[in-house]
Amino acid sequence: MDSCSFSFTFGIWWLLAVTNHMIQSIEGRSPESPLQCNQTLCTLHNSYGKWGDRKDCYALNATYPTTEEELLAAVSFAVKNNLKAKVVTRFSHTIPKLACPADRAAQSSFFISTERYNRQIQIDAANSVVTVVAGVGLRQLIDAVEAAGFSLVASPYWEGVTIGGLISTGAHGSSWWGKGGAVHDHVVGLSIVVPASQSEGYAKILRMEAYDPLFKAAKLSLGVLGAISKVNLRIEPSFKRSITYNFTSDVGLEDLYGEHAKKYEFADITWYPSQHTAVYRYDSRVPLNTSGNAVFDFIGFQATSTLVSEAVRATETMFEKSKNMRGKCVTAEGTIAFKKATANGLKNNGIIFTGYPVIGHQNKMQTSGSCLTSSSILSSCAWDPRIKGLFFYESTAIFPASIFRNFILDVKKLRDQNPEYFCGVDNYNGILIRYIKASDAYLGQSQDSIVIDFNYYRANDALTPRLNQDILEELEQMAFFKYGAKPHWAKNRIIAFLGVDKKYPNYNKFIGAKKQLDPQNVFSSNWSDEILFGKESEKSDGCALEGLCICSEHRHCSPQNNYYCSQGLVYKDARVCRFSNNSSLPFSV
Ligand SMILES: Cc1cc2nc3c(=O)[nH]c(=O)nc-3n(C[C@H](O)[C@H](O)[C@H](O)COP(=O)(O)OP(=O)(O)OC[C@H]3O[C@@H](n4cnc5c(N)ncnc54)[C@H](O)[C@@H]3O)c2cc1C
Ligand SMILES: *[C@@H]1O[C@H](CO)[C@@H](O)[C@H](O)[C@H]1NC(C)=O
Ligand SMILES: *[C@@H]1O[C@H](CO)[C@@H](O)[C@H](O)[C@H]1NC(C)=O
Ligand SMILES: *[C@@H]1O[C@H](CO)[C@@H](O)[C@H](O)[C@H]1NC(C)=O
Ligand SMILES: *[C@@H]1O[C@H](CO)[C@@H](O)[C@H](O)[C@H]1NC(C)=O
Ligand SMILES: *[C@@H]1O[C@H](CO)[C@@H](O)[C@H](O)[C@H]1NC(C)=O
Ligand SMILES: *[C@@H]1O[C@H](CO)[C@@H](O)[C@H](O)[C@H]1NC(C)=O
Ligand SMILES: *[C@@H]1O[C@H](CO)[C@@H](O)[C@H](O)[C@H]1NC(C)=O
Repeated sequence: MDSCSFSFTFGIWWLLAVTNHMIQSIEGRSPESPLQCNQTLCTLHNSYGKWGDRKDCYALNATYPTTEEELLAAVSFAVKNNLKAKVVTRFSHTIPKLACPADRAAQSSFFISTERYNRQIQIDAANSVVTVVAGVGLRQLIDAVEAAGFSLVASPYWEGVTIGGLISTGAHGSSWWGKGGAVHDHVVGLSIVVPASQSEGYAKILRMEAYDPLFKAAKLSLGVLGAISKVNLRIEPSFKRSITYNFTSDVGLEDLYGEHAKKYEFADITWYPSQHTAVYRYDSRVPLNTSGNAVFDFIGFQATSTLVSEAVRATETMFEKSKNMRGKCVTAEGTIAFKKATANGLKNNGIIFTGYPVIGHQNKMQTSGSCLTSSSILSSCAWDPRIKGLFFYESTAIFPASIFRNFILDVKKLRDQNPEYFCGVDNYNGILIRYIKASDAYLGQSQDSIVIDFNYYRANDALTPRLNQDILEELEQMAFFKYGAKPHWAKNRIIAFLGVDKKYPNYNKFIGAKKQLDPQNVFSSNWSDEILFGKESEKSDGCALEGLCICSEHRHCSPQNNYYCSQGLVYKDARVCRFSNNSSLPFSV
């Protein structure tokens, strides 16, 4: 690329980042509650402010229990009055509509919020177990555990989640060591409030331990079995972590990912295909007496000034409109250079990055989210729906470790047709590669697995196609249909869930547990059924653009914008919306 435009853009990025740091150190504001009620209706949003279908989700009423007894009474109230119930949290960071009880037409729906059920954390030091009520936030838990001389080994990278919510969707960090990266695999018991007969008072509390036959269903249950009240988690004596990022070539990535996870307890890899770059995270546990008091304040989760978030979004939209792939590549290069210079937000002394390795306590290194705790109007999380900031999709696919190699090779083939295709993704986090271990949870992974995440631009308007729409759809369909990857339950566009019921060997056992615990389907809704049963819905004009369908006719794309349904470039069975200004179309589908 021409060096002038590079330094110009890098210059802008750097300036924005510096401005951001200055503003950020002044103040910021916390996200708004995702559940908003007035006299007639309660409305639930996800953290990005828009669900997959962009339609709001409602219930007529909400309740805010503060104790297990009140939670029991809330479930009892719902069952007695024949309501559809869903547990919601103060974060609502799940992207699909799992927590939606019904649409506005359904009069009989009820939210049970755990927002005020967040006061108890009990540490049993003798048995290395912490018992926590479901509404407790991850940060709150991690710090309490650390203060008692223990560490929570696995957790998601993002701290803005509750314990009940995160285990319900199988949330994870990254590890193939011990019990692995998924938090539900560290759960040793839980209590759940489920519907019951009239004589039992319409609801009851079940306390389960690891040997309970229903435990494998309950520790990852998408919220459809009942309301989890308490979770018992295994903890370990506190430790520190030593992290080094190696920004290097992606040559041989397909042969290195397995070894990498065996060598480093908390390994991950960030792959930027457009830049032929892989960033290997060398991340190991070190003894508590190792010197170092660092903090990992991940760049993407820092409070960003409204000015910066809106400028980045405006630039991205401008490149989208002018179909300027080159422009996106320039910003991707600048962003990656910035991440390299700042070690993704690792701060040796808690303030800045001064060099590798970066060593700090587990509670400061595993998970972050400093944009959550800001308190003013000048800055926020970059995606805060109250500003015109970032707005994107998040696809997350889970592969058996053994077949992941071929997936990488296919992505490389697609990339080699034109590396610029991937610049859009590389403006976010590229393709983040993480590890989780085999689990006995029915809706967990039955073998050692690899998880990938990639984010990409979402237009303000549902019917506007994106730049390289076809490539992103091919990547998505390749993962989920050619390689049969499983979707993360908390992320993804709806097409990723197609056929999900066939992908889990113990799926029927989960459905059996559901019938046993919630035979009246109090905790089910059309929305959670759509995810759990992975059924295809009716196709409408433009439905493929938002991942609501796979195109089979041009009208599912956007013929008015010259996007036509076509086949994939590498995965020929993919059906994707591709731009063409050739009037002698249509392609054969
Ligand atoms: C910026 C961001 C970063 C993320 N990073 C990661 C990551 O690194 N790794 C990862 O795996 N995931 C990640 N996620 C996804 C996130 O971990 C999950 O969406 C998680 O489920 C959110 O928890 P929550 O408390 O917000 O739950 P919600 O989204 O409110 O609820 C999730 C589901 O659980 C149910 N539920 C919640 N509480 C209970 C309860 N007490 N009893 C029964 N059911 C309940 C709800 O009904 C719903 O179905 C990220 C998401 C975002 C937006
Ligand atoms: C309550 O909120 C809903 C959804 O936002 C809105 O349509 C309705 O007008 C509001 N009602 C009142 C009385 O404010
Ligand atoms: C809302 O739910 C509470 C129970 O938490 C109940 O007492 C109240 O009557 C309900 N209100 C309506 C309008 O249904
Ligand atoms: C749920 O789906 C069924 C069948 O598609 C439909 O008839 C019903 O209206 C839907 N209900 C809600 C609340 O969306
Ligand atoms: C980074 O990875 C490359 C291989 O891609 C290796 O040659 C190099 O030694 C590594 N650097 C460090 C600091 O480990
Ligand atoms: C840490 O403690 C161990 C024993 O507990 C000791 O062998 C080691 O030398 C100590 N390391 C440092 C850096 O102090
Ligand atoms: C349209 O197609 C012609 C010929 O293939 C090409 O030169 C031109 O750049 C295309 N225009 C756009 C907007 O892609
Ligand atoms: C337009 O598409 C047709 C059919 O695919 C092809 O034969 C023709 O060469 C294309 N024309 C241009 C200018 O690209």
